[in-house]
Amino acid sequence: MRVLGIETSCDETGVAVYDSETGLLAHQLHSQAALHAEYGGVVPELASRDHVRKLIPLLHQVLSDAGLDRRGGIDGIAYTAGPGLVGALLVGAAVGRSLAFAWGVPSVAVHHMEGHLLAPMLEPDAPEFPFLALLVSGGHTQLVAVDGVGVYRVLGESLDDAAGEAFDKTATLLGLPYPGGPELAALAEHGDPNRFRFPRPMTDRPGLDFSFSGLKTFAMNTIADAPGDPQTRAAIARAFEEAVVDTLVIKCRRALEHTGLERLVVSGGVGANRRLRQSMGVLADKLSVAVHYPRIEFCTDNGAMVAYAGCQRLLAGADEPLAFDARARWPLESLLPPGAEHGPQ
Ligand code: KG4
Ligand code: ZN
Repeated sequence: MRVLGIETSCDETGVAVYDSETGLLAHQLHSQAALHAEYGGVVPELASRDHVRKLIPLLHQVLSDAGLDRRGGIDGIAYTAGPGLVGALLVGAAVGRSLAFAWGVPSVAVHHMEGHLLAPMLEPDAPEFPFLALLVSGGHTQLVAVDGVGVYRVLGESLDDAAGEAFDKTATLLGLPYPGGPELAALAEHGDPNRFRFPRPMTDRPGLDFSFSGLKTFAMNTIADAPGDPQTRAAIARAFEEAVVDTLVIKCRRALEHTGLERLVVSGGVGANRRLRQSMGVLADKLSVAVHYPRIEFCTDNGAMVAYAGCQRLLAGADEPLAFDARARWPLESLLPPGAEHGPQ
């Protein structure tokens, strides 16, 4: 089955074609980062309008890259239906559902976080089920026990800011351009690791939930009390990054020990962080656990993960009615395995 995947939940327009037999045929991404940079964050209305501008040209490009005819060669369409910005989601949903109608093929609404969670399945060393997933993006921080596609148990999540959000907000405090996560990580590379120490929130009590908003406040106070020279800013970035990474590693360790799971998946934008990958590697060695990531470009939002996740449901016979839906919120645990449900109710 050949599936066209469409991602428009936030500020990236992603399109891909995934073939269940031969794998990923083509993928394209347009990032709106430059558009939102002057506002210091995503402006929902601008995001929707830019998806409208970019989605059809990207679709043409991907079909041509995949060597497919505009009308033929696609057996099903998968589009992100939530969670995310509703106006942005509606662009992908409307285009995806309409194309499916025009081409006479089934379509399926994909949960954005299921896309992230299954993204490592696109790699040659795809993990087997069951596994523990650490989903760390700009909107979510979750630890999920995954027994199979659509069989998810959320073991812990952030009670306030997501890890990526904390990176972005702290980056703004440090005067870095949006989106700040990768910029902060780059600055931290030159930072003295011994100059500042940030707390590891919620690691001194049992449980698997996270809280990152206090780190941002801690960063704000540290920045206010310290000189503004480049070395100091780099040292603050370093201390912040280490605190987030340590916290994520401590909770992953706890979840792995608690569940006895032997495979760990780390996915979502913050999964691209070099120091996080390094520290997870050390943990994985210590616990004799295998750790899997998507390739760096598929850690952040993309159409390939949506095509893959949708394909699993389309293979099981998913086919929606003509009405479609977009959801700002959509609990991951409400999903069912392929064949048992066909998108948001
Ligand atoms: O998964 P994603 O593209 O979008 C959401 O679904 O939210 O994640 C984007 C987030 C942003 O907060 C961005 O700053 C963060 O991932 N991010 C990073 C890195 N690359 C992206 N954070 C830390 N280090 C990185 N290298
Ligand atoms: Zn995402």
